[in-house]
Amino acid sequence: MNSNSLVSIDNISREEILDLIERARYFEEHPNHKILDGKVVATLFFEPSTRTRLSFETAVNRLGGRVIGFSDAATSSSSKGETLKDTIKMVSNYVDLIIMRHYLEGAARYATEVTDTPIINAGDGANQHPSQTMLDLYSISKTQGRLDDLTITLVGDLKYGRTVHSLLMAMRYFNPTFHFVACDELKMPHEYKEFCKNYGIKYTEHKDFSTEVINASDILYITRVQRERFTDIMEYEKVKNLYTLRNSMLAEAKDNLKVLHPLPRVNEIDRDVDDNPKAYYFEQARNGLYARQALICRALGIDIYKEAEK
Ligand code: CP
Repeated sequence: MNSNSLVSIDNISREEILDLIERARYFEEHPNHKILDGKVVATLFFEPSTRTRLSFETAVNRLGGRVIGFSDAATSSSSKGETLKDTIKMVSNYVDLIIMRHYLEGAARYATEVTDTPIINAGDGANQHPSQTMLDLYSISKTQGRLDDLTITLVGDLKYGRTVHSLLMAMRYFNPTFHFVACDELKMPHEYKEFCKNYGIKYTEHKDFSTEVINASDILYITRVQRERFTDIMEYEKVKNLYTLRNSMLAEAKDNLKVLHPLPRVNEIDRDVDDNPKAYYFEQARNGLYARQALICRALGIDIYKEAEK
């Protein structure tokens, strides 16, 4: 495995998280710093994406590199039966970095085992989405002025939601208090609650999305119920609209509260929230560009500060 690969948020220490946030801040001020001259990056998306793929590709383009890849596996030879192993080994012949999203949990880790080219996991099934977590952490740090001692409420699909799994793991360094709001079918899996216990992370579980929970929060992190993760569509129909944030529910929220969502949203945030200054999800998605520029440089072993001195 190339040690610059990013498969899980677990690959990044507290110090490195803080350093990456500083680098994201640098890129927000200098988004067009041309430091990837001669570098080619592959984006291999076996699952649909808007933000992750386009922000990674924009990041490479703004840094002066080139992008190859596919946004639909049906247009690649995997549709002819080529294995993931063969696809990764082939693409490694052409590029300096592979950014991949796959519907199977563990696919990115497997890819690191068949190539020396660095891999960035852009989402593997219901498992991990570490680059989303870096942009979430950057967004939280920007809006709250810190990462430590925050109360974060996670709402919606906590079972299959890879973004909440990665965020929970990353926050272990920063003494958070979590509220988990989900129905029985989509509650936070046992392994992540065990993780909280092991790291002394405080959490409570709720079925009601109450104003009491909202008013106690610094961050309200809403997630979509993901139809694509259900094998039984009737189960999805039963739970898809259980939780919707409406503007009126924010009336007594803390001044510093920000509403985050990895997007895309369906019905879980009413459109009447969009103009509330507490709504931060579109800015959050923009922060993805800067956080991903920092992650691309990490993966390629490029120190932006040294490059800036030249
Ligand atoms: N947040 C996120 O992963 O969005 P996309 O699925 O559009 O990439």
